[in-house]
Order: sequence, then C-alpha cells, then structure tokens
Amino acid sequence: MTETLWTAVDHYIDGMLVPADAALDAAIETSNAAGLPPIAVTPSQGKLLHLLARIQGARNILEIGTLGGYSTIWLARALPAGGRLITIEADRKYAEIARANILRAGLGGLVELRVGLALEVLPRVAAEGGGAFDLTFIDADKKNIPAYFAFALKLSRRGSVIIVDNVVRDGRVIDALSSDPDILGIRRFNDMLAAEPRVSATAIQTVGAKGHDGFAIALVTGDL
Ligand code: SAH
Ligand code: DHB
Ligand code: MG
Repeated sequence: MTETLWTAVDHYIDGMLVPADAALDAAIETSNAAGLPPIAVTPSQGKLLHLLARIQGARNILEIGTLGGYSTIWLARALPAGGRLITIEADRKYAEIARANILRAGLGGLVELRVGLALEVLPRVAAEGGGAFDLTFIDADKKNIPAYFAFALKLSRRGSVIIVDNVVRDGRVIDALSSDPDILGIRRFNDMLAAEPRVSATAIQTVGAKGHDGFAIALVTGDL
C-alpha cells in the first residue's frame, strides 16, 4: 500500500514537473529491452541531479556507474558548451547500450564513456591530470563506495560536490550487525564522511517508484 502510494506520487510529480523526453524515454526503453536491471534513478531523481549540477555550475562531472546512460544524460544536459562528463561502466554490454543512448541524446561530444572496473579506471583518470571535477555522482557497486569516495575526494577541489546514491537501502543502513558487503560499504562510507574534516555532508531518505533509499551529498569545504 505504502509503496503504491509513493509510486503514485512519483507519477504525479513527474506529470507536473518532469515532462516526457524522447532521449530519456528511449534510454529507459532500450535498457529494458536489452534486459538491463531497472535500477536507473527515477525521473524526478534524475532531474534533481540535473538541477544540482546546474546550481553547482558544474563544467566537469564524474559519474561512477553508467548502466544504460539515463543519469548520464540528465547530468550531461546540465553542462555548458565545452563541459565534460566522464562516466565509468564495468559491463561491456551495458556500456554499448549507454553509448547509443548518449549519442541519441546528442551528447556524444560532451560525454566520455570509460569501460572497465572503476577501481582500475579511476587511477588512470587521476593520472591524466585533467583537473578537478566540480561534481561526482557515485552509483556503482555499493561495497566499493568507500574507495570511490576516497577517489572522488582526491579528484575534487574546494567547492566540489559529491553525491552518492543508495545509502539507505530500505533502512538496512542502520543494521550495525549486517554482514551484507553493500551495507558494510555504505556504513564504512558514513564513518568516513563523519570523520572527514574537509567535507560538510548530509543524507536524505527518498521514497518513490524505487522504494525506500537515499542520497548522500557532500560539499568539499576544505582545501585538498
Ligand atoms: N547511474 C545509473 C545506474 C547505475 S546502476 C542511472 O541512474 O541511470 C550501477 C552500475 O554500476 C551498473 O551498470 C553496474 O554494471 C555498474 N558497476 C558495478 N560494479 C562496477 C565496478 N566495479 N566498476 C564500474 N561499474 C560498476
Ligand atoms: C541497485 C543499484 C543501484 O544503483 C540502485 O539505484 C538500485 C539498486 C542494485 O544493485 O540492486
Ligand atoms: Mg543507484
């Protein structure tokens, strides 16, 4: 009942504020048709990412976890001309779907899709010395969130924003006895956030078409 209501409210919000869009709709349709898991951010969450990137004035965005490119399109559309988004995806098949979706959205010139394990790709991105990212969206495997956050910090500057998806997981985040590697990863990330003097952070629970979950948002306030 509750989840039905959350989903109905999501549809109401989408109907009011997040109009249908051919490229975004195609990204979801092709992803579903190819059998990708239906775990992209929801439309209202995608628009939240887009608005946060615009509020931030982001010119350089890093995304970890592309799937079919749905969140990538939302984020890349926030970029000004000459902006750049690097997105990392481990699965070759998912990356192929994403590449087609990004091209269909007309974003091929702004988005660089790197295929590989994020923990192998991130050191290469760091070594390229392309400058700090204004915004990083972490949305890949949850057990490695602590390592991804450490990389995101290293690739940030004072004023950068780091957003992490799926930090609540139906409330399982508060289970201190959990042995689930995903929950352990999220909890260890929260320990890092709490102890990190160079960021100011919060987490927000979300309900809706994807159930009960949440985002963490960190602003880099200290020099790195
Ligand atoms: N950001 C996407 C959803 C990402 S789902 C959206 O909202 O549209 C998580 C993605 O992370 C999956 O595509 C999965 O293949 C990828 N992933 C999982 N482990 C990974 C790893 N170690 N390195 C890179 N990508 C990984
Ligand atoms: C899963 C991953 C996600 O990034 C998400 O938003 C929801 C679910 C998953 O792996 O189950
Ligand atoms: Mg996610």
